[in-house]
Amino acid sequence: MERPFPTVAVVGLGTMGAGIAVAIAQSGRRVIGIEADADAAGRALGRIEEATARAVRRERLTDAERTALLGLISVGDRLDAAATADLVIEEVPEQLELKREIFAELDRICPPETVLATGTTALSVTRIAAATARPERVLGLHFFNPVHTMKLVEVVRTVLTSPQASEEAAAFARELGKEPVAAGDRAGFIVNGLLFAYLNQAAAMLESRYATREDIDAAMRLGCGLPMGPLALLDLIGIDTARTVLEAMYEQSRDRLHAPAPILGQLVAAGLLGRKTGRGFYAYDAPGSSRAVAEASAGGTARVAGRPVASVGVCGSGTMATGIVEVFAKAGLPVLLAARSQEKADRAKAQLAKSLERSVSRGRLAAEQRDAALALVTATGSYADLAGVDLVVEAVAEDLAVKRDLFAVLDKIVKPGAVLATTTSSLPVISCATATSRPHDVIGMHFFNPAPAMKLVEVVSTVLTSPDVTSTVLDLCTKVRKHPVECGDRAGFIVNALLFPYLNDAVRMLQEHYATVDDIDTAMKLGCGYPMGPFELLDVVGLDVSLTIEKVLHQEFREPGLAAAPLLEHLVAAGCLGRKTGRGFRDHARR
Ligand SMILES: NC(=O)c1ccc[n+]([C@@H]2O[C@H](COP(=O)([O-])OP(=O)(O)OC[C@H]3O[C@@H](n4cnc5c(N)ncnc54)[C@H](O)[C@@H]3O)[C@@H](O)[C@H]2O)c1
Repeated sequence: MERPFPTVAVVGLGTMGAGIAVAIAQSGRRVIGIEADADAAGRALGRIEEATARAVRRERLTDAERTALLGLISVGDRLDAAATADLVIEEVPEQLELKREIFAELDRICPPETVLATGTTALSVTRIAAATARPERVLGLHFFNPVHTMKLVEVVRTVLTSPQASEEAAAFARELGKEPVAAGDRAGFIVNGLLFAYLNQAAAMLESRYATREDIDAAMRLGCGLPMGPLALLDLIGIDTARTVLEAMYEQSRDRLHAPAPILGQLVAAGLLGRKTGRGFYAYDAPGSSRAVAEASAGGTARVAGRPVASVGVCGSGTMATGIVEVFAKAGLPVLLAARSQEKADRAKAQLAKSLERSVSRGRLAAEQRDAALALVTATGSYADLAGVDLVVEAVAEDLAVKRDLFAVLDKIVKPGAVLATTTSSLPVISCATATSRPHDVIGMHFFNPAPAMKLVEVVSTVLTSPDVTSTVLDLCTKVRKHPVECGDRAGFIVNALLFPYLNDAVRMLQEHYATVDDIDTAMKLGCGYPMGPFELLDVVGLDVSLTIEKVLHQEFREPGLAAAPLLEHLVAAGCLGRKTGRGFRDHARR
């Protein structure tokens, strides 16, 4: 293929257009910038000059490169200038009528072979294309802000776009140093289609007072490794923009999970649009600032004092139990590791020794610390030994009958006033509590795997948990250097309730042949800075485990949009469970 599009016109040189113009000129192409009027053109040129000067200061560009680059960009206010372009990219404000008018004009001005691209985020590319007589040469080119750092470009084709036009557009994006992914014309495309439903659920979760804004954000950062929490991200995107995108998504999908959470409408009506106005979910020290200021908490009630915890017990001998023992022992707490038999307990302690050894060999732990931690752990095959501990964490099999039996046993053994915690991820904590005669002492402590590395613990209080038990566990988490977040006893707690519907949406997107596994994973990693794409994550977590969590969520909330995608059920039925079986969404055996 020849070098695609040697001359490109960019209509609208605001946030996106100015960035795109610079990226194109950097690839050595001529850029015809077009603004609404002479004043706007002057301001746009100023923006481009300033942005490139900043790039020189930050040593992303040399002075000579900047001069050459600016020499390739002309800025005017006449749309006619687009006549000599091979590709026109429209980046005017997100209004359908404005975009349709511009496309109708461009259709008259440009030769029939010129490709016309829209930068829309949430409008229908098809409706924009319908304003022209060349819908086969019209597509979407969705760049991400800031253009110079974000590598992703969604190349959006409508049912009428010719394969040649979208291939040329993808090749063009690659020449700008970007990674193009192919998407069909649907509100939100890949990235926003998956991101905004999740952001919306986070807003709804806050609105229902299930957890605080700080806890929701911390849970997603620390539990999933996301670069930002969802509410802080909504403030960055702009609450008004988010609401517009969600409205467009709902319009097409009629999925209630896309209907903007009422709180978004309230914030918009109040002019609290996020960082740009200085206040959204958080308050900032000035409009446009990224520095959130601390505010007095709305509830304002001081926490009651917790109970003293001088020794702990952990029930179980698996991955989570061993990891939790390690967390406690490293923080200097004496730990009883109690399993169903002495042999199982000894094996778990040997696992622990191996894990500590690995930390030593990686230079993360001193040999003395390893020895001190190991000396604090006593392995026992008898639950009766737990009689004297102040707190027990149960981490046995994820089976309600098994857990209830264990809680009934603990109830008979453990001293009065001790805290009994379960680390269940999908069962109701209250069902563990009611297996005892002291449900007010029972609470959830949901650790994440691997427990020694993951900072987050979801502290789950039931309707019966006594406030001083909650305080005890919050204090203990801090003492063992974990970050606790508080939530109520409902399916998924914070993290899984926000994460798994997103993963399910990704499976649905694949199942509908909207985009490929690779394109969806690439889009989420490059477009949102996620450490893993949804299919990579599903293959690591296990498709069977994911399906179970999705079923629990659907059963709890009965939201039609939460029903597990049939493709996930089919893969599980076929024994494709992810990395552990060598095959899930990807074939790992062949790699
Ligand atoms: N900002 C983002 O994060 C982002 C990310 C991806 C896509 N988008 C999409 O990109 C498009 C542009 O958004 P933006 O954030 O750059 O907006 P913006 O408001 O910063 O810029 C729009 C520019 O278009 C100019 N303009 C208005 N009417 C015009 C006309 N008739 N002819 C020529 N120029 C005109 C304005 O003067 C302004 O400079 C929108 O469709 C938006 O949804 C935005």
